[in-house]
Amino acid sequence: MRLSRRVGSIVESATLNVAERAGALKARGIDVATLVAGQPDFDTPDEIKAAAVEAIRQGFTKYTASSGIPELRAAIAEKFRKDNGLVVSPEDVLVSCGAKHSLFNFFAATCEEGDEVLIPAPYWVSYPEQVKAAGAVPVVVPTREEEGWKLRPEALTAALGPRTRAVVLNSPNNPTGAVYSAEELAALARALRGHDALVLSDEIYEKLIYGGARHHSIAALEPALAGRTVTVNGMSKAYAMTGWRIGYAAGPREVIEAMARLQSQTTSNPVSIAQKAALAALTRPTPDLARMVAEFDRRRLTMVERLRRIPELPLAVPQGAFYVFPRLSAYVGRRLNGSPLANVSALADALLEVGHVATVPGEPFGAPHHIRISYAVAPEVIDRGLDRLERFLASLT
Ligand SMILES: Cc1ncc(COP(=O)(O)O)c(C=O)c1O
Repeated sequence: MRLSRRVGSIVESATLNVAERAGALKARGIDVATLVAGQPDFDTPDEIKAAAVEAIRQGFTKYTASSGIPELRAAIAEKFRKDNGLVVSPEDVLVSCGAKHSLFNFFAATCEEGDEVLIPAPYWVSYPEQVKAAGAVPVVVPTREEEGWKLRPEALTAALGPRTRAVVLNSPNNPTGAVYSAEELAALARALRGHDALVLSDEIYEKLIYGGARHHSIAALEPALAGRTVTVNGMSKAYAMTGWRIGYAAGPREVIEAMARLQSQTTSNPVSIAQKAALAALTRPTPDLARMVAEFDRRRLTMVERLRRIPELPLAVPQGAFYVFPRLSAYVGRRLNGSPLANVSALADALLEVGHVATVPGEPFGAPHHIRISYAVAPEVIDRGLDRLERFLASLT
């Protein structure tokens, strides 16, 4: 069968793949500690659910405007003003079927065949695949663990070229938990002054931030960038609404309109009921968010403390999202029952199959010496998983 070259070049999501393999082991009756989750283990707050139930009761179950209902676009514009200092009107907002969809709309609407998109590594697994699916070329720009996994302006300047169409920024970052300060973002903005690249700022983990770190939107820091930055966010992480599939983007009207046109001919509107739920979420107080963040922070500190007790497992302390990203390379080459483990992916495989702990190897995040461990799981699963990880690593010879 001949398939499209674009889709032929993309791979399945590595995180979903590990979750499936862990699920298959569980189905065989094996107790696996799964530290893979890319979503809060909290339930969607009741008031948000109630808004959805009410929408169904009222028959709000038909097509809506393809770009999202006006009230929700207005609430998102207000959220950007209040939380991020961004001046956007509701017409500059597009509501999509998850932030993942917002991101794809952006790449598909702005990239020509052969355009380059700069992606700092470690990166969320979907960026390079979406860029390829849009016909463009992902250009990975490494960052250094010693520099907190943050893109330096010099590295950005060196990577910018005549074919650069866009630069992806993701703070707080998946998988490292790195959070850029205002100064760091301003320095990147300065590096972009002499170039016309667009900026795609993925801020989906904005609210999951700890230990005094603060979130900043690059489009608000540098007025010159506002006209060429698309800021993406969504309901999934902050409101425990991953299944509802509501994400959104705001930015220059021309780009948002192009994304909206594409959406109108592909998915049409995001689910009407989920839009009403998102509207309720954005226009009510959020005590549940504060509780969730406090709980994630406790788990983050426990996890960092426990991992630090394991020899030769260095890690940068994450400031946001819900992952830790330790370096596992000291264990590469060691033997499990006499067989050497050739790389971190082999180690993560053995950790799953033999140690019964599911984690995601760093390779698909562009960081082949690390593994991603999620703390968006119950504390007892974290404890069990870390006990097993410790025993597994100690058993290697
Ligand atoms: C960095 C990053 N961006 C975007 C998304 C997509 O979120 P959504 O559920 O809104 O599609 C994720 C989900 O894991 C993510 O980690």
